[in-house]
Amino acid sequence: MRLFVAIALPAAAAGELDSAVAPLRLAWPELRWTGRDAWHLTLAFLGEVDEELTGKLGDRLKRAAARHPRLSLALGGAGAFPAAARARVLWTGVKGDLDGLGRLAQTVAAGARRAGVPPATEGRRYEPHLTLARCRAPADVQTLVATLGGFAGTPWTAGEIYLIRSRLQDQPRYETLGAWPMLAPAPSHPA
Ligand code: 2AM
Repeated sequence: MRLFVAIALPAAAAGELDSAVAPLRLAWPELRWTGRDAWHLTLAFLGEVDEELTGKLGDRLKRAAARHPRLSLALGGAGAFPAAARARVLWTGVKGDLDGLGRLAQTVAAGARRAGVPPATEGRRYEPHLTLARCRAPADVQTLVATLGGFAGTPWTAGEIYLIRSRLQDQPRYETLGAWPMLAPAPSHPA
C-alpha cells in the first residue's frame, strides 16, 4: 500500500484557497490542477508499505501525535519546485507554528521508522507545502507564483494526524486509514 501521513484542512481553509485558485485554474489550463478534496499537508511520505506493518505503524503514529501540542497553522504564499522558472510543482505554503510542524514531522518519521516503515523521503529537508498543480513539462510559473504570493488564509488549529492510502490513477485517490489526536491543551482550572 502506498501510504503517507498528513494534516487535514478544515473546510473553511480549503474554501478560501479554492476561491483564490479558481481564476488561476481558468488562466492556466495547461497545468494539472489538484482538486480541493485532495488537499492536505504531508508530514511524511512513506511509500510502499507492507499491509502487515500498518497495525504497528498506527500504534507508533498514535504515540507520535500524543507527544505534540496542537498547531496553529495558516495557508499562505506560493512557490514552485524545483524553481518558479522551471516548475514541476506549484504550491501554496504554510505559515504559523512551523517549528512545531517540523518537530511533529520528525517525530512521525521516527515513529514510522520504529514500526519498520522508514519514510521514502528520509534524509530530505522537510518542506511543508500544499501541491496546487503539477506541470507536464517544466514550466515558467513566475507570474502565477507572484499572483498567488499574496494569498493569506485564516489560521486554524490542527489537532489530528492522518494515515492516508494513495491509489494512483489519473488523479490520485486518497483513503483515510486512521486518525490520531495531538495533545490537547490542559484544561484551565479557576483559581
Ligand atoms: P506532493 O504533493 O508534493 O507531491 C501523497 O503523494 C503525498 O505525499 C503528497 O502530498 C506528496 O507530495 C507527498 N510526497 C512526498 N514525497 C513523495 C514522493 N517521493 N512521491 C510521491 N509523493 C510524495
